[in-house]
Amino acid sequence: MKKNPLVIANWKMKLMPSEAIQLARLYVRFQRGRKEHPFTFAMCPSSESIAVVYNVIRSSSLRLGAQNCFWENAGAYTGETSPATLRALGCTYCIVGHSERRQYLGETDDMIAKKISAILAIPGLIPVVCIGENASHRKNNTYRPFLKAQLAACFHCAKPRKGQAIVIAYEPVWAIGTGRPNTPKDCAEIYELIRSFAAQALPYARISVLYGGSVTAENIHSFISNGVSDGCLIGGASVIHKEFSALYRALSRL
Ligand code: PGA
Repeated sequence: MKKNPLVIANWKMKLMPSEAIQLARLYVRFQRGRKEHPFTFAMCPSSESIAVVYNVIRSSSLRLGAQNCFWENAGAYTGETSPATLRALGCTYCIVGHSERRQYLGETDDMIAKKISAILAIPGLIPVVCIGENASHRKNNTYRPFLKAQLAACFHCAKPRKGQAIVIAYEPVWAIGTGRPNTPKDCAEIYELIRSFAAQALPYARISVLYGGSVTAENIHSFISNGVSDGCLIGGASVIHKEFSALYRALSRL
Protein backbone atom coordinates (compact mmCIF):
# COMPACT_ATOMS: atom_id res chain seq x y z
CA MET A 1 0.00 0.00 0.00
CA LYS A 2 1.14 3.55 -0.77
CA LYS A 3 1.79 5.69 2.28
CA ASN A 4 -1.09 7.89 3.32
CA PRO A 5 -3.59 7.17 0.53
CA LEU A 6 -5.90 9.99 -0.52
CA VAL A 7 -9.63 9.28 -0.32
CA ILE A 8 -11.97 11.86 -1.81
CA ALA A 9 -15.74 11.70 -1.36
CA ASN A 10 -17.77 13.19 -4.19
CA TRP A 11 -21.19 13.96 -2.73
CA LYS A 12 -22.49 15.08 -6.14
CA MET A 13 -25.88 16.91 -6.03
CA LYS A 14 -27.35 14.44 -3.57
CA LEU A 15 -27.76 16.32 -0.29
CA MET A 16 -29.64 19.28 1.10
CA PRO A 17 -27.40 21.59 3.18
CA SER A 18 -28.86 20.17 6.42
CA GLU A 19 -28.05 16.62 5.23
CA ALA A 20 -24.54 17.69 4.22
CA ILE A 21 -23.98 19.08 7.72
CA GLN A 22 -25.20 15.81 9.26
CA LEU A 23 -22.94 13.73 7.06
CA ALA A 24 -19.94 15.99 7.76
CA ARG A 25 -20.62 15.56 11.49
CA LEU A 26 -20.58 11.79 11.02
CA TYR A 27 -17.23 12.03 9.18
CA VAL A 28 -15.83 14.14 12.02
CA ARG A 29 -17.09 11.67 14.63
CA PHE A 30 -15.29 8.80 12.94
CA GLN A 31 -12.18 10.81 12.48
CA ARG A 32 -12.12 11.86 16.17
CA GLY A 33 -12.40 8.21 17.20
CA ARG A 34 -8.90 7.52 15.89
CA LYS A 35 -5.62 8.90 17.09
CA GLU A 36 -3.72 8.25 13.90
CA HIS A 37 -4.96 8.30 10.36
CA PRO A 38 -3.32 6.17 7.77
CA PHE A 39 -5.06 8.14 5.02
CA THR A 40 -6.06 11.67 4.01
CA PHE A 41 -9.80 12.16 3.68
CA ALA A 42 -11.51 14.94 1.75
CA MET A 43 -15.18 15.55 1.07
CA CYS A 44 -16.64 17.49 -1.85
CA PRO A 45 -20.14 18.83 -1.12
CA SER A 46 -22.13 20.69 -3.74
CA SER A 47 -21.05 24.35 -3.95
CA GLU A 48 -23.97 25.74 -1.93
CA SER A 49 -23.01 23.54 1.06
CA ILE A 50 -19.27 24.20 1.05
CA ALA A 51 -19.37 27.01 3.63
CA VAL A 52 -21.61 25.15 6.10
CA VAL A 53 -19.58 21.95 5.81
CA TYR A 54 -16.37 23.90 6.38
CA ASN A 55 -17.80 25.11 9.70
CA VAL A 56 -18.29 21.51 10.78
CA ILE A 57 -14.86 20.18 9.79
CA ARG A 58 -12.63 23.24 10.27
CA SER A 59 -10.94 22.02 13.46
CA SER A 60 -10.52 18.43 12.23
CA SER A 61 -7.90 17.01 9.91
CA LEU A 62 -10.54 16.33 7.27
CA ARG A 63 -10.17 18.26 4.03
CA LEU A 64 -12.70 20.01 1.87
CA GLY A 65 -13.08 20.07 -1.90
CA ALA A 66 -15.38 21.41 -4.61
CA GLN A 67 -16.96 19.49 -7.47
CA ASN A 68 -16.29 22.11 -10.13
CA CYS A 69 -15.10 25.66 -10.74
CA PHE A 70 -14.84 28.26 -13.49
CA TRP A 71 -11.60 29.33 -15.17
CA GLU A 72 -11.71 32.97 -14.04
CA ASN A 73 -11.56 34.23 -10.47
CA ALA A 74 -13.93 37.19 -10.85
CA GLY A 75 -16.07 38.96 -13.42
CA ALA A 76 -19.40 38.91 -15.21
CA TYR A 77 -19.87 35.12 -15.30
CA THR A 78 -23.37 34.49 -14.03
CA GLY A 79 -23.78 31.28 -12.07
CA GLU A 80 -20.12 30.32 -12.06
CA THR A 81 -17.80 29.55 -9.13
CA SER A 82 -14.42 31.22 -8.72
CA PRO A 83 -11.40 29.06 -7.80
CA ALA A 84 -10.10 31.88 -5.57
CA THR A 85 -13.43 31.91 -3.71
CA LEU A 86 -13.29 28.15 -3.22
CA ARG A 87 -9.88 28.49 -1.61
CA ALA A 88 -11.15 31.33 0.59
CA LEU A 89 -14.02 29.05 1.70
CA GLY A 90 -11.54 26.43 2.89
CA CYS A 91 -11.27 24.10 -0.11
CA THR A 92 -8.03 22.21 -0.68
CA TYR A 93 -9.25 20.24 -3.70
CA CYS A 94 -11.34 20.97 -6.75
CA ILE A 95 -12.64 18.20 -9.01
CA VAL A 96 -12.53 19.09 -12.71
CA GLY A 97 -13.70 17.25 -15.79
CA HIS A 98 -16.03 14.81 -14.08
CA SER A 99 -17.78 12.71 -16.74
CA GLU A 100 -21.21 13.86 -15.50
CA ARG A 101 -20.24 17.46 -16.30
CA ARG A 102 -18.86 16.41 -19.66
CA GLN A 103 -22.12 14.56 -20.39
CA TYR A 104 -24.78 16.93 -19.02
CA LEU A 105 -23.06 20.34 -19.21
CA GLY A 106 -21.12 19.85 -22.44
CA GLU A 107 -17.79 20.41 -20.72
CA THR A 108 -14.95 19.95 -23.20
CA ASP A 109 -11.27 19.08 -22.74
CA ASP A 110 -10.45 22.67 -23.66
CA MET A 111 -12.68 24.06 -20.89
CA ILE A 112 -11.16 21.56 -18.48
CA ALA A 113 -7.64 22.64 -19.51
CA LYS A 114 -8.50 26.27 -18.68
CA LYS A 115 -9.95 25.25 -15.31
CA ILE A 116 -6.83 23.24 -14.44
CA SER A 117 -4.64 26.28 -15.17
CA ALA A 118 -6.89 28.50 -13.06
CA ILE A 119 -6.74 26.08 -10.11
CA LEU A 120 -2.96 25.70 -10.36
CA ALA A 121 -2.67 29.48 -10.12
CA ILE A 122 -4.31 29.50 -6.65
CA PRO A 123 -1.84 28.58 -3.91
CA GLY A 124 -3.15 25.70 -1.81
CA LEU A 125 -5.83 24.56 -4.26
CA ILE A 126 -5.23 21.16 -5.89
CA PRO A 127 -6.97 20.00 -9.08
CA VAL A 128 -8.52 16.53 -9.12
CA VAL A 129 -8.71 15.89 -12.84
CA CYS A 130 -11.08 13.12 -13.95
CA ILE A 131 -10.43 11.09 -17.06
CA GLY A 132 -12.07 7.88 -18.24
CA GLU A 133 -13.16 5.93 -21.27
CA ASN A 134 -16.74 4.95 -22.02
CA ALA A 135 -18.03 1.44 -22.60
CA SER A 136 -17.55 1.52 -26.37
CA HIS A 137 -13.86 2.53 -26.09
CA ARG A 138 -13.40 -0.42 -23.78
CA LYS A 139 -15.31 -2.79 -26.07
CA ASN A 140 -13.44 -1.65 -29.19
CA ASN A 141 -10.13 -1.72 -27.39
CA THR A 142 -9.55 1.96 -28.20
CA TYR A 143 -9.39 3.09 -24.57
CA ARG A 144 -5.62 3.53 -24.44
CA PRO A 145 -5.33 6.08 -27.29
CA PHE A 146 -8.54 7.72 -26.05
CA LEU A 147 -7.17 8.21 -22.53
CA LYS A 148 -3.83 9.46 -23.86
CA ALA A 149 -5.62 12.01 -26.03
CA GLN A 150 -7.82 13.09 -23.12
CA LEU A 151 -4.79 13.62 -20.89
CA ALA A 152 -2.91 15.56 -23.57
CA ALA A 153 -5.91 17.81 -24.26
CA CYS A 154 -6.71 18.46 -20.60
CA PHE A 155 -3.13 19.30 -19.63
CA HIS A 156 -2.00 21.07 -22.80
CA CYS A 157 -1.59 24.44 -21.08
CA ALA A 158 -0.91 23.33 -17.49
CA LYS A 159 2.20 24.87 -15.96
CA PRO A 160 2.57 23.48 -12.46
CA ARG A 161 5.29 24.89 -10.21
CA LYS A 162 8.05 22.57 -9.02
CA GLY A 163 6.57 20.05 -6.58
CA GLN A 164 3.00 21.32 -7.06
CA ALA A 165 0.37 18.65 -6.37
CA ILE A 166 -1.95 17.40 -9.11
CA VAL A 167 -4.42 14.55 -8.63
CA ILE A 168 -5.56 12.55 -11.65
CA ALA A 169 -8.57 10.31 -11.09
CA TYR A 170 -9.11 7.41 -13.48
CA GLU A 171 -12.88 6.97 -13.58
CA PRO A 172 -14.11 4.69 -16.36
CA VAL A 173 -17.50 6.14 -17.31
CA TRP A 174 -19.06 2.67 -17.53
CA ALA A 175 -18.07 1.99 -13.91
CA ILE A 176 -19.55 5.14 -12.35
CA GLY A 177 -22.67 4.42 -10.33
CA THR A 178 -23.18 1.05 -12.00
CA GLY A 179 -21.95 -1.28 -9.27
CA ARG A 180 -19.44 -2.66 -11.82
CA PRO A 181 -15.99 -1.32 -10.96
CA ASN A 182 -13.01 -1.94 -13.19
CA THR A 183 -10.69 -4.64 -11.90
CA PRO A 184 -7.60 -3.55 -9.96
CA LYS A 185 -5.54 -5.50 -12.53
CA ASP A 186 -6.97 -3.59 -15.52
CA CYS A 187 -6.64 -0.31 -13.61
CA ALA A 188 -2.92 -0.90 -13.06
CA GLU A 189 -2.36 -0.55 -16.81
CA ILE A 190 -4.10 2.83 -16.80
CA TYR A 191 -2.19 4.14 -13.76
CA GLU A 192 0.97 3.25 -15.65
CA LEU A 193 -0.29 5.14 -18.72
CA ILE A 194 -1.12 8.19 -16.56
CA ARG A 195 2.23 8.12 -14.79
CA SER A 196 4.22 7.86 -17.99
CA PHE A 197 2.20 10.74 -19.50
CA ALA A 198 2.84 12.84 -16.39
CA ALA A 199 6.56 12.01 -16.33
CA GLN A 200 6.85 13.55 -19.79
CA ALA A 201 4.28 16.34 -19.76
CA LEU A 202 4.31 17.37 -16.09
CA PRO A 203 7.79 16.36 -14.92
CA TYR A 204 7.97 18.84 -12.02
CA ALA A 205 4.54 18.19 -10.56
CA ARG A 206 3.76 15.81 -7.70
CA ILE A 207 1.21 13.44 -9.21
CA SER A 208 -1.26 11.25 -7.33
CA VAL A 209 -3.37 8.76 -9.26
CA LEU A 210 -6.77 7.74 -7.89
CA TYR A 211 -9.35 5.17 -8.97
CA GLY A 212 -13.06 6.04 -9.06
CA GLY A 213 -16.17 4.12 -10.16
CA SER A 214 -18.36 1.95 -7.90
CA VAL A 215 -15.90 1.89 -5.00
CA THR A 216 -17.51 0.39 -1.88
CA ALA A 217 -16.48 -0.71 1.60
CA GLU A 218 -16.11 -4.21 0.19
CA ASN A 219 -13.77 -3.43 -2.68
CA ILE A 220 -11.82 -0.35 -1.53
CA HIS A 221 -9.12 -2.52 -0.09
CA SER A 222 -8.37 -4.06 -3.48
CA PHE A 223 -7.93 -0.61 -5.06
CA ILE A 224 -5.73 0.88 -2.38
CA SER A 225 -3.80 -2.01 -0.91
CA ASN A 226 -2.35 -3.17 -4.22
CA GLY A 227 0.06 -0.28 -3.89
CA VAL A 228 -0.40 0.92 -7.44
CA SER A 229 -2.98 3.65 -6.94
CA ASP A 230 -2.60 6.54 -4.52
CA GLY A 231 -6.21 6.39 -3.37
CA CYS A 232 -9.85 6.50 -4.45
CA LEU A 233 -12.59 8.91 -5.50
CA ILE A 234 -15.88 7.66 -4.07
CA GLY A 235 -19.34 8.79 -5.13
CA GLY A 236 -22.50 6.91 -4.13
CA ALA A 237 -21.02 5.01 -1.17
CA SER A 238 -19.77 8.21 0.46
CA VAL A 239 -23.21 9.74 1.06
CA ILE A 240 -24.96 6.75 2.61
CA HIS A 241 -24.32 6.86 6.36
CA LYS A 242 -24.17 3.08 6.83
CA GLU A 243 -21.98 2.56 3.79
CA PHE A 244 -19.67 5.39 4.83
CA SER A 245 -19.28 3.87 8.30
CA ALA A 246 -18.30 0.56 6.71
CA LEU A 247 -15.95 2.38 4.33
CA TYR A 248 -14.28 4.19 7.17
CA ARG A 249 -13.78 0.98 9.11
CA ALA A 250 -12.33 -0.70 6.00
CA LEU A 251 -9.97 2.26 5.50
CA SER A 252 -8.89 2.16 9.13
CA ARG A 253 -7.82 -1.45 8.71
CA LEU A 254 -5.50 -0.63 5.79
P1 PGA B 1 -19.57 6.16 -7.82
O1 PGA B 1 -19.14 7.60 -8.40
O2 PGA B 1 -18.63 5.84 -6.68
O3 PGA B 1 -20.98 6.36 -7.36
O4 PGA B 1 -19.44 5.19 -8.92
C1 PGA B 1 -17.80 7.96 -8.51
C2 PGA B 1 -17.70 9.35 -9.08
O5 PGA B 1 -18.56 9.72 -9.89
O6 PGA B 1 -16.79 10.11 -8.73
